[in-house]
Amino acid sequence: MKHVVMGVTGSIAAYKACDIISALRKSGVDVHVILTHAGAEIITPLTLETISGNRVVKDMFDSDRHFEVEHISLAKLADLFLVAPATANFIGKMASGIADDMLTTTVMATTAPVMIAPAMNTNMYLDAATQANIETLKQRGCEFIAPATGHLACGDEGIGKLAAVEDIVRAVLDKLNVKRDLEGKRVLVTAGPTREAIDPVRYITNRSSGKMGYAIAEAAAERGADVTLISGPVSLRTPGGVKRVDIVSSDELCDSVIERFPGCDILVMAAAPADFTPAEFSSEKIKKGGDNLTLNLRATRDILKTIAPLKSNQKVMGFAAETHNVENNAIEKLKRKKLDFIAANDVTAEGAGFGTDTNIITLYGADGSREHSGMVTKREAADWLLDRLVK
Ligand code: CTP
Repeated sequence: MKHVVMGVTGSIAAYKACDIISALRKSGVDVHVILTHAGAEIITPLTLETISGNRVVKDMFDSDRHFEVEHISLAKLADLFLVAPATANFIGKMASGIADDMLTTTVMATTAPVMIAPAMNTNMYLDAATQANIETLKQRGCEFIAPATGHLACGDEGIGKLAAVEDIVRAVLDKLNVKRDLEGKRVLVTAGPTREAIDPVRYITNRSSGKMGYAIAEAAAERGADVTLISGPVSLRTPGGVKRVDIVSSDELCDSVIERFPGCDILVMAAAPADFTPAEFSSEKIKKGGDNLTLNLRATRDILKTIAPLKSNQKVMGFAAETHNVENNAIEKLKRKKLDFIAANDVTAEGAGFGTDTNIITLYGADGSREHSGMVTKREAADWLLDRLVK
């Protein structure tokens, strides 16, 4: 997830910060706001806090500040620093190296790229000092999102209006290299293990952590997709902008996929559904006794095979977590389950097993293609797989 630290200063356009934050969050970007005292005269911290979902920082010496020096931790967190709207005063202070409040100290401490969207009265914008300050900051590598010309809050006509929210958001997403190539697509992702109940206290499960599926859901949402994540029992945070549906058993997962598959464009089956479930559920706890216990299991439905006949134009990707004969097993599953792609990994390989944060994938396509990811984080693997689905 990308993090933007956003300075909001005392221009009347400060209220537009809400639309910028909300659009960035929809693209999966985490936004932390630093509000100047003048900015707080125009928009309240509560509004910005509610929209950003993060605490708004205003004072250098907040009594409830975290132990870590806050301006330094925010400066380090930022993948990009945005100041929108930026007043002539803020631009002047930054150009002069003044660091006398939370925003100016944090922007001085960051090594992230800085983007500035000015908003002020025309004469202030065209004033020689402001223009010289903008020039100085440009030479130091700051990028400016130029203000627009139009009717200003002070009644004047001219340049100085904050650039359009869409232009600011696009400039930020481009700079962050956030792709929006799944906009308008409905993506269904399954993740995690299932639990097959034996009695009220016991169940059968597997070692899937859900991390790969969650990373795919997160990446797809950041790329603009409308994402539904059907999740088995895992302890992972739901990625921003993702609708999560919880299931427990393999049969529940199957029903949930059948219900949602016709309404999706892409299905990624990263879940590890149990292939067998206890033939009978004992409503009472099974008591010990004797030296052996035999559990009768019945086969569950193969979800991908079940939905194959329902397929119209959807693209379907499955996974094959194997311990041996990886290539043969994966290609056999690709054909048997009528998939467009299968992402295979050898779970016995270092860096590719259950619960790890990395993966090593070979992707087989129904067209006979074969590509290898090398060792990547699960999040990188997610984008690597989505790149291929998009193509
Ligand atoms: N899968 C499925 N329904 C099942 C089991 C698995 O749709 N009942 C899906 C998985 O989500 C995965 C793919 O099928 O995308 C391959 O899963 P895997 O467990 O590797 O294959 P199985 O068909 O279960 O074969 P085996 O367990 O014998 O390797």
